[in-house]
Amino acid sequence: MKSGRNITVSAPAKIHLLGEHSSVYGKPAILTSVDLRLKVTISQGRTIPEELKKLQKLIDRIVKTELKLKKIPLYSLEISSDIPIGAGLGSSAAVSAAYVGALLTYLRVTWSLERIYRLGFKAEEVFHGNPSGGDLATVVFGGLIWFRRETPTLKLIQPLSFNISSKLTKRFVLINTGTPKESTRDLVAMVKELYTKKPKKVENFSNYQEKLVKELLTVIKEGNEKEFIRIIREGERNLESIGVVSKSSKEIIMKIEEAGGAAKICGAGGKAEATGVLLCYHKQKKVVENIAKAYSKNRYNLPYFSAKLGVEGVKLEKI
Ligand code: MEV
Repeated sequence: MKSGRNITVSAPAKIHLLGEHSSVYGKPAILTSVDLRLKVTISQGRTIPEELKKLQKLIDRIVKTELKLKKIPLYSLEISSDIPIGAGLGSSAAVSAAYVGALLTYLRVTWSLERIYRLGFKAEEVFHGNPSGGDLATVVFGGLIWFRRETPTLKLIQPLSFNISSKLTKRFVLINTGTPKESTRDLVAMVKELYTKKPKKVENFSNYQEKLVKELLTVIKEGNEKEFIRIIREGERNLESIGVVSKSSKEIIMKIEEAGGAAKICGAGGKAEATGVLLCYHKQKKVVENIAKAYSKNRYNLPYFSAKLGVEGVKLEKI
């Protein structure tokens, strides 16, 4: 099989507006892509950085099986990324999607987003054990996504035809609390264990999250600030009830709420210390930024930033 020359494919980050963890139990989630991108470059050569060798083996195996190839020609691999790792921003989904896209292009195989999703999901299963597939759907298809895992093999990925009202997005701030001690895999497994011991607790959590996610759909379209704050606060409290938000992050979130805003984890969260990125909202962004600054001076380093949402999913950058 003939290979291409110098291929770069990129994928964006994602955040959960709501529905993380409950989506593993078949409940809906609303996610959006975020304008931080990870890029995978494949070129002729044979240089694979040591830390990427395991990943290379996995993606090569998936693509080899898909294309029924005996072997994949040697290539050089580079990955660069603006997405903080393990911060709830879907960095592993972005790697899976962009890498599969780059390798297929290198092998001169045409791909559709559906094909990238199907193959990327095989990598996600190895990384996470039991992923819902929501992170990957968002980084592959981009935009604003309604996601639901109907059965382990059937996923509803519904790109929404509207944007989140700019009345809301212009007031979003993302605060990075740092990389959690636990991986997404650990946190999903922890909730599973809770489900085994206390099924009613996780069922109640999931049902409540489903109700909030459905309410959120019209609220983000219309830009209803009061309702948005209520839903984010209630959704966050509900996530706290299953133990995926650490004490230190609860404290920061409470400070933002006391100042009249709302905040929540936007991925798997964290139990011991950091919980990755927090999605924060306040009428005056400055209030959230000042809270982050005050913490950074006194206790934890809390960098904050704003980013464009609803950007394009996986895409070919260079061929
Ligand atoms: C992780 O970003 C979101 C979780 O719901 C896991 C998943 O959906 O696979 C915690």
